[in-house]
Amino acid sequence: MEIRFEKADHLKEKPTGTLGFGKYYTDYMFVADWDAGQGWHDARITPYAPIMMDPATMVLHYAQETFEGLKAYKTDDGRVLMFRPEMNARRFINSNKRLSMATLPEEDFVQACESLVRVEKDWIPTGDGESLYIRPYMFATEKAVGVHPSRSYKFIIICSPVGAYYPEGVSPVKIYIEDEYTRATVGGTGFTKCGGNYAGSLKAQEKAEELGYTQVLWLDGVHRQYVEEVGSMNVMFKIDGKIITAPAGETVLPGVTRDSMIQLLKSWGYEVIEKHLDVNELMEAGKNGKLEEAWGTGTAAVISPIGELYYKGEKVTINGFKTGELTHKLYDTLTGIQWGRLEDKFHWTVEVK
Ligand SMILES: Cc1ncc(COP(=O)(O)O)c(C=O)c1O
Repeated sequence: MEIRFEKADHLKEKPTGTLGFGKYYTDYMFVADWDAGQGWHDARITPYAPIMMDPATMVLHYAQETFEGLKAYKTDDGRVLMFRPEMNARRFINSNKRLSMATLPEEDFVQACESLVRVEKDWIPTGDGESLYIRPYMFATEKAVGVHPSRSYKFIIICSPVGAYYPEGVSPVKIYIEDEYTRATVGGTGFTKCGGNYAGSLKAQEKAEELGYTQVLWLDGVHRQYVEEVGSMNVMFKIDGKIITAPAGETVLPGVTRDSMIQLLKSWGYEVIEKHLDVNELMEAGKNGKLEEAWGTGTAAVISPIGELYYKGEKVTINGFKTGELTHKLYDTLTGIQWGRLEDKFHWTVEVK
């Protein structure tokens, strides 16, 4: 893919102090357009700027929108690494196919991310746990009211220097198990990263926050009984020495971190069971001490220890609300590989030169 570069007249001040998550954006963005007949064209890196849209633009009405999230890390010796970007590229294709949108070839997705990160490498923060969050997304741009797949799309990538996703940092979070609203059902869009999945989740998130919980743990959409995933992370439980996580790819997002952690855990000799875990079984394991550890996995949240679960008025505390030994080991190994401090035995990182 040929990428044009349009230089900015002036560059922004870089933020100082605590970065938080998604508060600052870099100087440039990547943009490419797709039209039926012409395909992808006009790939460019241009100064970060607002997008002009006609009020009839289809995404505003029918929500054909998909996105991805990955990070670039700066190592102690100044190298720039991305973590398994080809996995995001493939998931993006799957999301776009499900939403009847244009698809971007895997190599073009990776090239676009690399090219923008190369331009913005001075924006990659180097404080403890900090990185550059990369947000590729695509949306319908045809001007039309009337439900049909759009005949044109825009693909954009923006970047944001970030620190910890949760205000708690790497301390345990409290999770609210949602028993009223659901996120996905078989045959729906649960396995995709489309904006609509998140819009539908906000009501439950508000409810959880009002009760002092950080995120929602979703149950399946049919029985409201089987554990699926958390708002922005997959979830794993260590029960009686075994690791249990929900099967991904249908109603659960196939997380890049989830897949990586399953590979790591198996390489350490753990039995990893992908199954529909009954929430009552989970709460029972919490009460009788068999639930040894629980954690979430995600690009933004990294490995996030879970210290408390709330379900229908009952609470269980996990590992005395302390980060468990295995959770710690996963966090240290994953971040060690991502920041180039540990050997990358699985060849997960891609260097941006
Ligand atoms: C709903 C949901 N589940 C799981 C994840 C974790 O996926 P990944 O590890 O690819 O970031 C995310 C974040 O992307 C998410 O939004």
